[in-house]
Amino acid sequence: MGGLLIALEGIDGSGKSTQAGLLARSINASLTFEPGATHLGIALRSLLLHSAANDLAISTSAEALLMIADRAQDMAENILPALSAGNNVVTDRYSASTIAYQGYGRGIDVNHLQAAIDLATGGLSPALNVLLDLPVSLALERLAGSGKKADRFEEAGVKFLEKVRTGYLSMAAADPSHWMVIDSNAPADQLAANILEQVKSRLEAHL
Ligand code: TYD
Repeated sequence: MGGLLIALEGIDGSGKSTQAGLLARSINASLTFEPGATHLGIALRSLLLHSAANDLAISTSAEALLMIADRAQDMAENILPALSAGNNVVTDRYSASTIAYQGYGRGIDVNHLQAAIDLATGGLSPALNVLLDLPVSLALERLAGSGKKADRFEEAGVKFLEKVRTGYLSMAAADPSHWMVIDSNAPADQLAANILEQVKSRLEAHL
């Protein structure tokens, strides 16, 4: 049998990248992230996140398709080989990011997005999505304190991130057997312990 795919999801500033790394290490899983975990992905990520600095126009549907192209390559190079070798995979963002940001955030029809996502993933959805939930105001405070330069999505502002957060919470509410919602407003080590305990109990039969 193949390994399991676990996706860490959340708005910018939710702490998910740190937690994805810690979780992967704790359960001895492969780690990947989107966008940008392949050579093609690095090129796409720089187009996608720094388009304003490069004076590059990207329409909303082009943005969605580039995110999904990144996923297709991540599937081919990282996710599928690891899963078929029997390893579990933790990914820092996956398809739910596209539904949340490009669907709920930008307003693209979710059924259209899903069809393109299915093309990229062959319909593979995570055994579990872990949503690190945080109020937008707190997430923006964290980002401001991190000293990191804002990207295209962080610059889209509070209203946009509110829609993204609503999208995540709606997906989680609609499909509780594949989602776990964790309050991300906690110190990183406590949060890591909480995530590990809950992921283990949800995937007990598999891990
Ligand atoms: P990420 O690398 O998680 O950002 P950071 O390292 O700053 O937390 O993701 C980069 C941005 O890309 C983030 O704002 C979310 C956005 N994104 C989408 O809009 N759609 C997608 O499908 C994915 C995977 C990411």
